Amino acid sequence: MRIDLVTIFPDFFTPLDLSLMGRAREAGLLDVHVHNLRQWTQDKHRTVDDTPFGGGAGMVMRPDVWGRALDDILNAPILSKTDTAPTSAKEENTHHQRRILAIPTPSGVRLTQAKAEDIAHADQIVLACGRYEGIDQRVADYYREEEYEVYEFSLGDYVLNGGEVAALVLVEAVGRLLEGFVGNAASIVNESHSLSGILEHPAYTRPRHWRHHDVPDVLLSGDHAAIERWRRDSSLIRTASRRPDLARAIPPDSLEERDREILAGAGIVLSPHIADILISPATASEAGEIARLAQETFPMTCPEHLDDDAINRYMREYLTEDKFAQLLATPSDNRILVAREKEGAGTLIGYTQAALGGSNALPQDMVRPGKLEPGAAYLSKCCVSPMWEGSGIMGALLERAIGDIAAHGRNSQVAVGINIAHRQAALIYKRHGFKVVGRRTFTVGGMATIDDVLVRNITPFYA
Ligand code: 6GU
Repeated sequence: MRIDLVTIFPDFFTPLDLSLMGRAREAGLLDVHVHNLRQWTQDKHRTVDDTPFGGGAGMVMRPDVWGRALDDILNAPILSKTDTAPTSAKEENTHHQRRILAIPTPSGVRLTQAKAEDIAHADQIVLACGRYEGIDQRVADYYREEEYEVYEFSLGDYVLNGGEVAALVLVEAVGRLLEGFVGNAASIVNESHSLSGILEHPAYTRPRHWRHHDVPDVLLSGDHAAIERWRRDSSLIRTASRRPDLARAIPPDSLEERDREILAGAGIVLSPHIADILISPATASEAGEIARLAQETFPMTCPEHLDDDAINRYMREYLTEDKFAQLLATPSDNRILVAREKEGAGTLIGYTQAALGGSNALPQDMVRPGKLEPGAAYLSKCCVSPMWEGSGIMGALLERAIGDIAAHGRNSQVAVGINIAHRQAALIYKRHGFKVVGRRTFTVGGMATIDDVLVRNITPFYA
């Protein structure tokens, strides 16, 4: 590939003689030419700019000087890859040569990896580096009309003094994609932005312990599935926090349930619609709203044979605004977390309720299964409004509730009771490391129902 850099500061491009770029040039992969724009001036002062028509600050680069320079350069012979002989006339006739005029400007379209991959196939890229307030617009317009590919590009939303640094960026982004440039092709496939649309996970090497910062244990575990999972989680969490725009553009079908849970925990939900969510401890003023959601969701967790009277009796006794207000008044023993939509009215999506109070926390018949420690916390509810099923919020809430219990430092285990007919719920808890340790009877409005008792030790599951 031939690259022509046109500038009034040729010294800017000495870095292209260095390291990999220099070797690519020596190897004949890149044929780089740096030109001083002033060589195409015709006046004594070698003027390249003038004041803007219409007034205003700064100077604009003259189209006549640029036109002479670009006519010469866009017609220069392109040398073949492997030797320094010009391509034969025959080859030039059969093979259309793709010559791109690239103009760095803060008002251009954003340079992307996809575009770099596209223009890496060009035969020639001419970079017209403007200074001051840019190049007279007619230059880009003229060469576009002459059917050159004109690419006015920007690096991002900040202003540089001129196009030289942006030109270096483009040359490096394109150069490293040329075949034979990088020894290890795998290192290119796996990169942030190139394919996956999510950011790369953090990387670590020796020493394992450094200034009180340790390498995450999982990376030393030798458990490749766990390592892959940790890396994917880290990528998703990073993307949600650093590039929410990218996170929101992830195709929902490309995510597994666990991915959705991780993303929801990081505040972003993609289905049933894209939303920012927040999981946080509930406050006293939310008691009424939580009670309404509790009464909406509780009947769905009950077995079919339970009659409405029994369910309603239970809800009138335990799922009232008053009851939730009482629980919210004792936050050191009773923990309630809520998930809400961030936008608009901030709809309540789900809630968790846990009792931390040592042996008092557990219903008496739950202690009986045996494998339960007296220090177990009791997670009595983890509910999500039905329209948010499959969003990942349930799993995110569950992990947050367990993290919240762990942060209080009083419990060694978390226990839950799930009706034996409620297979779906049991599966979620099992996926989150819960194990069945026994059964209990759970009385709903005077009717006995049977629950499996599931337990998980208090260790972060997504650690
Ligand atoms: Cl391509 N040029 C200039 N002058 N400033 C920029 C830029 C380009 N991209 C971001 N800022």
